[in-house]
Amino acid sequence: MINKVPESEIQNQIEYINKIKTLGEKRNYCINTMGCKLNEADSEKLCGMLDSMGYTQVEEFEYANIVIFNTCSIRENAEEKVFGKLGELKNIKEKNNMIICFAGCMSQEPHVIEKIKKSYSQVDIIFGTHNLYKFPEMLYNKLTNNNQKRIVDVWDIDGEIYEGLPIKRQSKTQASIIIMNGCNNFCSYCIVPYVRGRERSRQPEDILFEVNELAKDGCKEILLLGQNVNSYNPREGYSFANLLADLDKIDGIDIIKFTSPHPKDFKADVIDVIANSKKISRVIHLPLQSGSSKVLQSMNRGYTKEEYLDLAKRIKEKIPDALFTTDIIVGFPGETEEDFEDTLDVVRKMDYEQVFMFIYSVRKGTRAEKMEGHIPEDIKSERFNRLKALADGMLEESMNKYVGTTQRVLVEGESKTNKDMLTARTSSNKIVNFEGPKDLIGKEIELKIVSQHVWYLKGIIE
Ligand code: SAH
Ligand code: SF4
Ligand code: F3S
Repeated sequence: MINKVPESEIQNQIEYINKIKTLGEKRNYCINTMGCKLNEADSEKLCGMLDSMGYTQVEEFEYANIVIFNTCSIRENAEEKVFGKLGELKNIKEKNNMIICFAGCMSQEPHVIEKIKKSYSQVDIIFGTHNLYKFPEMLYNKLTNNNQKRIVDVWDIDGEIYEGLPIKRQSKTQASIIIMNGCNNFCSYCIVPYVRGRERSRQPEDILFEVNELAKDGCKEILLLGQNVNSYNPREGYSFANLLADLDKIDGIDIIKFTSPHPKDFKADVIDVIANSKKISRVIHLPLQSGSSKVLQSMNRGYTKEEYLDLAKRIKEKIPDALFTTDIIVGFPGETEEDFEDTLDVVRKMDYEQVFMFIYSVRKGTRAEKMEGHIPEDIKSERFNRLKALADGMLEESMNKYVGTTQRVLVEGESKTNKDMLTARTSSNKIVNFEGPKDLIGKEIELKIVSQHVWYLKGIIE
């Protein structure tokens, strides 16, 4: 049984938020979020706290007095980027009287903390993924004690679940809800179990309460998040399938999505709940990682090529309109040309809607780091390009199928690239841009699809 952070401790943090507010300083903050949707959801919590302190969010570092890096350690290039940005801030730190905070998955890695201590004196506060709720206290201590040296508070034990601190949601109609945190799978390439700790599930009552409140407030779509959502296990006798069924009953919520499930934990009861629901998205993310049973075994994924294909078949039998997306790692240690062909074979057979592709990146402390047979960079890139060509072709084909059809979409907001256009999403997750009045935002409408542009479709109101 996972403990929650005691109510008194949350109250304590709310008091720190109020104390900061009464300091009356007008500060701007800027938050830089890297990595996955879990980090984005954590950033919504940090923004919620900062807004409640009376601070204003800005998009550019230049105008900020508080900067937070919410970091990701999944691949090497994510790490390199953040150190580059830290370097850039050195010059404006003094001018802006800036407090620089370093948070997220990278802070859980001891070698990163050492590097900051040695070479990045501009960082004022370092906190990890387990104690994010203590941010108000850390910030208050920094603000009220000018001489205080850098605050470093990173826990290497699993944090407890916490409820009740403010969240600043990016959208009124769509909400991300973390249902579990951490991972017990230890895939041999992956850093996540080391930086996010063991699996902890939120209690269903807390999740249902939150979603009910969101629905009353006009939210239409929820995205359930966790490193491994289908091993959601808050207590004996209550599973991910139970949670989906309970959420399905909430009036006002029209679309339920989740990510990421693990193929080895995708049980028949979950397939049944999706099949019987009108709200749960038919786009199922089913991370493959490799199509070779030999590579899958050394990745410690817990399924073979055949078991994966069989799972997809069972899903399709019960949910004929299911569509699949996936994650694939190219160039895992020991991957032969034959193994890679197996991956291409599965990609062809699965006819994925979308493939998220990654070149294998060595992570310190993982089992794969010490494996034999690391693949040279040129072979990794060559395989990556071949997989990409196959996936791009499939994407184009799948997008072509939409042209000429009428699709029911949820209007999300203004298009990011063209303010005169609105952007919407089909139930299969395709972006559709169209011209229309702004009061359609948050509504479900029908659009006729007139053309496809690789990453998005263009539609018109008929
Ligand atoms: N829990 C999720 C994955 C989260 S990480 C799952 O199991 O599906 C997102 C993706 O990053 C993974 O699916 C994997 O494809 C990729 N990834 C993880 N570690 C990696 C590494 N060391 N190198 C390259 N890609 C990696
Ligand atoms: Fe990483 Fe595997 Fe856990 Fe996903 S399931 S977070 S890939 S260890
Ligand atoms: Fe990155 Fe941490 Fe997510 S390592 S992918 S931000 S869980």
